[in-house]
Amino acid sequence: MTDPKSLRSLAEDVARQVGEQVVARRSAGFTWETKSSTADVVTEIDTWAENAVVELLTAARPDDGFLGEEGTSTTGTTGVLWTIDPIDGTTNLLYDIPGYSVSIGASLDGVPIVGAVFDPVRSELFSAAVGDGATRNGLPISPSTSTELSTSLLGTGFSYESGMRAHQGSTMKTILPAVRDIRRLGGAALDLCNVACGRLDAYFERNLSPWDFAAGALIAAEAGASVVTGPLTRASAPGIVSALDTLLASAEV
Ligand code: IPD
Ligand code: CA
Ligand code: CA
Repeated sequence: MTDPKSLRSLAEDVARQVGEQVVARRSAGFTWETKSSTADVVTEIDTWAENAVVELLTAARPDDGFLGEEGTSTTGTTGVLWTIDPIDGTTNLLYDIPGYSVSIGASLDGVPIVGAVFDPVRSELFSAAVGDGATRNGLPISPSTSTELSTSLLGTGFSYESGMRAHQGSTMKTILPAVRDIRRLGGAALDLCNVACGRLDAYFERNLSPWDFAAGALIAAEAGASVVTGPLTRASAPGIVSALDTLLASAEV
């Protein structure tokens, strides 16, 4: 059974259940270490959350495949692959800044079919199933109606690699004067959900990993945003897509 509606409800339940425990574990105190660079942190809660998500999903879907940021990688036999970011926005979690989430996406034979992103601080659950629209806490969401870049609020994110960061900084001198403002909220999954519900007019970031956007990109697309994934991921309110793409190209993002 690979019915997107039932997989969506499973992803919602697991993201919420694990996310609620993330907050409790944060309050109890936790250890952390660095990964690819001094900027890149992993906490014991990230590892715990990935194991918890995989355990709960496996109990319901033992023959599916799993890919998780903290090391899970298994091949299933059903064509369904679950792509998990157990905590997207770990730097926010580390500093007790809101804006981290549990992100769970599912694809069938390589095509995204389900996404669930739970923000435990705001208690907001975003989700989507292919062809079925996107919701926040069960209510339909849609992107903003913005038609002008000059009055648009853009989100972006920065790499953990210092050379790439230097380049990303230099692109800002072209982008900032052209828009209302920029936000670096610290979690790609929620950035995509923020475009989905109109809290950001658009979002862009280079070099994301599959778990960063697996759920959020489908949620944004199902909400009605224009979404491209790849070396440059961007999600945009429909009314500013072409102006945004021109700006991103001219800034050499
Ligand atoms: C990061 C966040 C951040 C984005 C980085 C991601 P992590 O994920 O989504 O906003 O700018 O590119 O790697 O490390 O917190 O799971
Ligand atoms: Ca991430
Ligand atoms: Ca993560």
